[in-house]
Amino acid sequence: MSTYHSPVLLHESLEALSINPAGVYVDVTFGGGGHSREILKRLNSQGRLIAFDQDPDAVQNVPDDQRFTLVRTNFRNLRKGLAECGLQKVNGILADLGVSSHQFDTAERGFSIRFEGPLDMRMNPEQPLSAKEVLATYQQAELRSIFKTYGEVDNAGLVAKKIVEAREEKAINTVEELKAVLLPLSRRGKENQYLAKVFQALRIEVNSELDALKEMLEQAAEVLEESGRLVVISYHSLEDRMVKNYFRSGSFDGDQEKDFYGNLIRPLEPVSMKAILPEENEIELNPRARSAKMRVAEMPRKTG
Ligand SMILES: C[S@@+](CC[C@H](N)C(=O)[O-])C[C@H]1O[C@@H](n2cnc3c(N)ncnc32)[C@H](O)[C@@H]1O
Repeated sequence: MSTYHSPVLLHESLEALSINPAGVYVDVTFGGGGHSREILKRLNSQGRLIAFDQDPDAVQNVPDDQRFTLVRTNFRNLRKGLAECGLQKVNGILADLGVSSHQFDTAERGFSIRFEGPLDMRMNPEQPLSAKEVLATYQQAELRSIFKTYGEVDNAGLVAKKIVEAREEKAINTVEELKAVLLPLSRRGKENQYLAKVFQALRIEVNSELDALKEMLEQAAEVLEESGRLVVISYHSLEDRMVKNYFRSGSFDGDQEKDFYGNLIRPLEPVSMKAILPEENEIELNPRARSAKMRVAEMPRKTG
């Protein structure tokens, strides 16, 4: 199973969930099930774990355990998926965002700059929009905006222009074809970082990652029991900023709303202001942990 995905911040995230053995927990990003298996170890026979994943490949990792249910859908359907399991409230939620190693390392999924393959990038292969669709159909201005916003690509306008020129000659369908357009635009010696930024931007767009995250965070705040924890591990600054703002201020752009008495109106309270990062030895063992940042928030107890 370790070849499917090595869980990141495993010990830290489990500690942060502060598990009640008889409670109901949710892993919204099941993947290889590394975090889920560890949660199950801490539950007693009354405990339950509901996991979500939109990728059908994750089904192969489902543990043989009565207490476990996999809901094969996008985590933006969190509330609905839980309702289908007969649940309105849960004691803790874990989200380990982004793509699994299995997805990255499967050439036909088209997520990685390392392998030749179709430009697909769908976490859920049943959705219609793939990366090659984006490259073929989006207007130049839309492409520019994606590369700038989601990839923080310096010359996003030039990338969009070159893609539009290239597709007029021939559709861009494969990783190699896209790399051939991009490489002349990259600074010498920085090619891989440059390609990775453009690929990240496309992946975020294809999977509507930021919208799904917003919807999941809002629903998480609705379904958490008092004192329940929400633990989110993110891998790039756009996600982390969104999580940080939501935990601190209750809004995604960081705007604060206060009540009559000057108290912040926010659904969750951050457990600490600082993000938790992996230790050096974890990064050495698992380089994919390098960009991970974990944040934890709690549903406050109602007073009065
Ligand atoms: C980083 S991996 C999680 C790995 C997992 N924690 C483990 O230990 O194996 C992220 C997983 O979440 C899934 N995923 C990402 N975004 C999702 C979303 N919006 N809805 C449902 N699943 C999602 C991906 O398909 C992938 O399998």
